[in-house]
Amino acid sequence: MKKKNLIILGVLVLVTFLAWRFVRPMNIFIVDDRFAWPVDTTDAPTLLNDNLSAAECGSCHPAFYAEWQTTIHSQAWTDPYFQTDWKFDDSQHVCRLCHTPLDRQQPRKVQGYRDKDKWDPILGDNPDFDPVLQHEGVTCAACHLRDGKIVGVQGLVNAPHPVKKIEDPNQVCVRCHVVEGERWDTFFRFPPCGTVAEIKSSQGEVPTPGERLQLNRLISFEEQVPLDKMTTGQIIGRSGEVRVEKSSELGCVQCHMPLVRRPLVEGGEMHDTRRHLWRGGHDPTMVKSALRAGLVEESTDSPDRRRVTFTIVNTGAAHYLPTGTPDRHLSVQLRLLDSHGEVVEQEEHLIKRTILWRPFIIDLWDTRLPRWQPHSYHLEVNRNSKAVAVEVVVRYHLLAESRRKRIGYENTQPIAYEVFRQRRALQPPSTQQETE
Ligand code: HEC
Ligand code: HEC
Ligand code: HEC
Ligand code: HEC
Ligand code: HEC
Repeated sequence: MKKKNLIILGVLVLVTFLAWRFVRPMNIFIVDDRFAWPVDTTDAPTLLNDNLSAAECGSCHPAFYAEWQTTIHSQAWTDPYFQTDWKFDDSQHVCRLCHTPLDRQQPRKVQGYRDKDKWDPILGDNPDFDPVLQHEGVTCAACHLRDGKIVGVQGLVNAPHPVKKIEDPNQVCVRCHVVEGERWDTFFRFPPCGTVAEIKSSQGEVPTPGERLQLNRLISFEEQVPLDKMTTGQIIGRSGEVRVEKSSELGCVQCHMPLVRRPLVEGGEMHDTRRHLWRGGHDPTMVKSALRAGLVEESTDSPDRRRVTFTIVNTGAAHYLPTGTPDRHLSVQLRLLDSHGEVVEQEEHLIKRTILWRPFIIDLWDTRLPRWQPHSYHLEVNRNSKAVAVEVVVRYHLLAESRRKRIGYENTQPIAYEVFRQRRALQPPSTQQETE
């Protein structure tokens, strides 16, 4: 009898716990000390103390300012998708720590935390709050101002503001592009937005020239540069810049901030500088540069059936494709068409990370593309099928339509766009035997 009571009690505790988890789901990540506190601007250089705005920096560095204005970093606060999502998610303070990281950008100041995971901040008044600066999101000072100095890699001691030299420019990205969440009750390979972890896990996977040649057969399409022309151990960034891959390097700036030689200020000396572009999911050209894909038709064991194979490879991004928030995904539509262009058969596949959020956070499946690992999809064609052609369309989605609806995001910009399309005539059945 006692044993039975114990079991009932145990089940009750478990049910209550799970129910509580459904009502109050777990926080996705741990608020790490890296970003738990806003960037302290009290010791800002005297030259800039009254005005930390991007426009102020831009008065001397106009080219950098013009580039930054075109980026999602400059919209990290005003971005309508962020604003909708943030409000849907109870307007939590923690989001401000990366989307508006300077203390002056936050209407209330973090003075401490009530909980161990730091999701429950103690907030006080902030007399220095600057709403104009808040609208600049990830502004210049968010990356460049540390301990009252302007950080950079050039070491230019003659600048009118104090400069602190850092060795590795990628250090700058780590504050906001890595979130961690290792604890007993979370079960995932990568933390959400695990760009850095993805790069680490994909290193050492660079294929040999032979493997590239084989891959090239599957995805040769129009005038793509043959894969085997790329040298092993080297990767080609978006700017065409070739660099040797070292495990200590994350390469974020090499791909996201292309190299350009120019002066820092008008009429200044020439330096190797990096363009402040940070293209990603919002830029079709950038996403297209990450992938190679193509259709091939092959025979099968049976003379009555042939097979169409679509192969897609991430050759351009060191992390997974897609990376970033788990909202991002690709869809692959593979279809057979008849002589009138009507669809005979169609399949859709998602390249996506699927996470169970409650009652525990569990990585269910991850069909995204690690670098250099091809994914293939097949369609079988019968001898007497009406199909005369095969077509594939790949689209990139910033977020799913269902999620857009759920959070009430009224987008004015498209939330999905095409990144690859190919149509190919099938071999007529009569010639199939001969070509085999
Ligand atoms: C009054 C003009 C002026 C203003 C305002 C100004 N800078 Fe500069 N900055 C310079 C000059 C001049 C240099 C040195 C250029 C050279 O030596 O070629 C420089 C150098 C730099 C460097 C290179 C540091 C290194 O050694 O790597 C960075 C980064 C930088 N500025 C960022 C900023 C940011 C961010 C702001 C705004 C918060 C800002 N600057 C505001 C004039 C200015
Ligand atoms: C202070 C925090 C912060 C730092 C530091 C930072 N980022 Fe970001 N980054 C963000 C936020 C926030 C967004 C998303 C903004 C949005 O979409 O609303 C973002 C977006 C991006 C995007 C996606 C663009 C797109 O189209 O979706 C890229 C690429 C990127 N950052 C690269 C970098 C690189 C490279 C560095 C280092 C040089 C860096 N970031 C440093 C906060 C930061
Ligand atoms: C998301 C982070 C980020 C933001 C925001 C940002 N920068 Fe930079 N900036 C960097 C990094 C990283 C470097 C070092 C690039 C390198 O390796 O040369 C850099 C370098 C520079 C340099 C020195 C030239 C060079 O490329 O080394 C200047 C000048 C500069 N930034 C000005 C600005 C100005 C002005 C703004 C705002 C309009 C701004 N930055 C916003 C990350 C950022
Ligand atoms: C070899 C080149 C390469 C390297 C290295 C690289 N990226 Fe990317 N990145 C890309 C390409 C190409 C895309 C567009 C395709 C995609 O979204 O995966 C991209 C996309 C992104 C996005 C967009 C995600 C979104 O939500 O829109 C972010 C954020 C990002 N990268 C951050 C980083 C960070 C941080 C690093 C370093 C830790 C890094 N990347 C290193 C090439 C690179
Ligand atoms: C550790 C820093 C960090 C924190 C904290 C953070 N974000 Fe972000 N957020 C980013 C970065 C970096 C990106 C862009 C890269 C990516 O796609 O993951 C981003 C992208 C986004 C996007 C996609 C925007 C777009 O234009 O597609 C949304 C929405 C978003 N964040 C909402 C939130 C909300 C809501 C919170 C608070 C619960 C939050 N973020 C907290 C760093 C952060």
